[in-house]
Amino acid sequence: MGTKRPKTRGRFITLEGVEGSGKSTQIRHLADVLTQAGYRVLQTREPGGTATAEAIRQILLTASSQDPVTPQTEALLVLAARHQHVTHLIEPALKRGTLVLCDRFSDSTLAYQGYARGLDLQWLREANDVAANGLTPDLTLVLDLPVSVGLARRRADRGEQNRLDRETERFHRKVRRGFLALAAEEPRRMTIVNANRPAQEVQDELTEIVLGWMARLRRPPRRRS
Ligand SMILES: Nc1ncnc2c1ncn2[C@@H]1O[C@H](COP(=O)(O)OP(=O)(O)OP(=O)(O)O)[C@@H](O)[C@H]1O
Ligand SMILES: [Mg+2]
Repeated sequence: MGTKRPKTRGRFITLEGVEGSGKSTQIRHLADVLTQAGYRVLQTREPGGTATAEAIRQILLTASSQDPVTPQTEALLVLAARHQHVTHLIEPALKRGTLVLCDRFSDSTLAYQGYARGLDLQWLREANDVAANGLTPDLTLVLDLPVSVGLARRRADRGEQNRLDRETERFHRKVRRGFLALAAEEPRRMTIVNANRPAQEVQDELTEIVLGWMARLRRPPRRRS
């Protein structure tokens, strides 16, 4: 092309969904596919991603039932972790032009602490804005499936257990409804993907969505014939 392109900021893609919907499984695959496609990729997760934010994650995972974490404390901890993560890891990567893939982000705060725990959504949106320095994902993939399926996968899994695994199905159904409501509000940013299928099928669809989306960003829209 010859013309100098202005340095572009990297893209920010998040994966969301209820427990056991396959976020961690799928994000690894997406990171591989995008790396092979030639993108510089950073794969990260919330809460976590920096030393301080990972320490906050441990507090959330291991809090004693003698000193139950209140919904407000839970929200403030995930928000504090997010500010560390955005400021010290995500923003610098985006500035370098890196494609950032994040396992959970602000939508999880609205779904869990808002729709499921009942904290005020307007307050959470404002707090999210502060925590994320105003950053919103460019694309969010919501892995959707019945909560009973996700929870059964989690039970079969020997991986990291957390306090949320002990919540009732009713709680997780509210989380699911929250994600679906958020996606309905922002259909351009958020895409719902049926996660109640073999992992390979989910992988194929996610790959198609993300590579198609990345390609459209690089090209002006084609005129219809
Ligand atoms: N499509 C699938 N079909 C069957 N099992 C799956 C599928 N995707 C992932 N799994 C398995 O389900 C379990 C949970 O998957 P994973 O950890 O990727 O979910 P997650 O969305 O990251 O869950 P969490 O919210 O708890 O972190 C894992 O044991 C994983 O191997
Ligand atoms: Mg996970």
